[in-house]
Amino acid sequence: AKPRVIFSGIQPTGIPHLGNYLGAIQNWVRLQNRAAPDDTILYCIVGYHAITLPQDPAHLETERLNMLASLLACGINPKTSLLFNQDQVPEHAELAWILNCITPMGWLSRMTTWKSKLAVARNASSEDEINDSMLNLGLFAYPVLQAADIMIHKSTHVPVGEDQTQHLELAQDIARAFNHKYSDDLFPTPQQLSTPTKRVLSLRDPTQKMSKSAPSDKSRILITDDPAAITAKIRGAVTDSISEITYHPERRPGVSNLISILAACTSEEPNLDLGTIARSYQGKRIQDLKQDVADAVIAKIEPIRKEYEKIRAESAWLRDVSDAGDTLARERASRTMSEVKKTVGL
Ligand code: ADP
Ligand code: NA
Repeated sequence: AKPRVIFSGIQPTGIPHLGNYLGAIQNWVRLQNRAAPDDTILYCIVGYHAITLPQDPAHLETERLNMLASLLACGINPKTSLLFNQDQVPEHAELAWILNCITPMGWLSRMTTWKSKLAVARNASSEDEINDSMLNLGLFAYPVLQAADIMIHKSTHVPVGEDQTQHLELAQDIARAFNHKYSDDLFPTPQQLSTPTKRVLSLRDPTQKMSKSAPSDKSRILITDDPAAITAKIRGAVTDSISEITYHPERRPGVSNLISILAACTSEEPNLDLGTIARSYQGKRIQDLKQDVADAVIAKIEPIRKEYEKIRAESAWLRDVSDAGDTLARERASRTMSEVKKTVGL
């Protein structure tokens, strides 16, 4: 098989939640551990994306270390994967500018994520602080920066959650547009690598995805939550008034989300039938299901939480790891950037 270049990123905007873990990071770790010797694996913390919404500078710096520690605690091995900070590799932003110049505004208008991010941000803060001027150019154009993140490393495979499908398709369109305009084969068309767990939903509002930016802490489980916190959040998960347990994501998103989390935490089987799991709860109560979900999530998260506590205390080592990654990523990115500038005539 042709060597793959696997790439993904995560924002340093809070400790990863169960959705990030089951929908993305767990898959990053599996890909890393199963990679062929000549595959290249790059995972980064995307600070340039974080500042598309307001951030407190002092806080942001801490968040970047928290995220680095989180990824290491989840099993990313900096000896196998190139783990780095996107914002320390200026070529990401430089390529984004060139891609901005070939991306029609209409392609970005069709994206749904900036609209929902804006809506979440509006609810989270006071009215005076947030108004229409919050739609800055960066938030509107961040899918182009994502395309640049992927393309600057000539990535072929991108493991991200289902919430990112639209952006990945945009990145494919932009890569094709660049090749068409300037050169036939400079950029590969990146393929999405999905996980069996498509989308983990908010525990408070199961019509929304679990998200770092939603206002309620009770809506998400963090990889640093202790067993008591996990149990409390799962017990408090919003379901519905039907006592029978059935799997029906459209009609019963709350219960179905719990079944999906249970499956994801207890099995690696990609084609597990969630209806079968639901039927195994025939005659049981929602409290029974919640107890099993809590136990399964705790079994998954507790080793990660403990590892995080250990690693996070090693600030000097964390900085060494990220400095080494930044240097290597920059070498790689600057090679692509030279080719791009030459191709464009700059
Ligand atoms: P968030 O949306 O919580 O701010 P990011 O945008 O940093 O998180 O996303 C990091 C990764 O986690 C992406 O691959 C994204 O697809 C995945 N992801 C985020 N939320 C969920 C979710 N609720 N379910 C599954 N995957 C998710
Ligand atoms: Na996201």
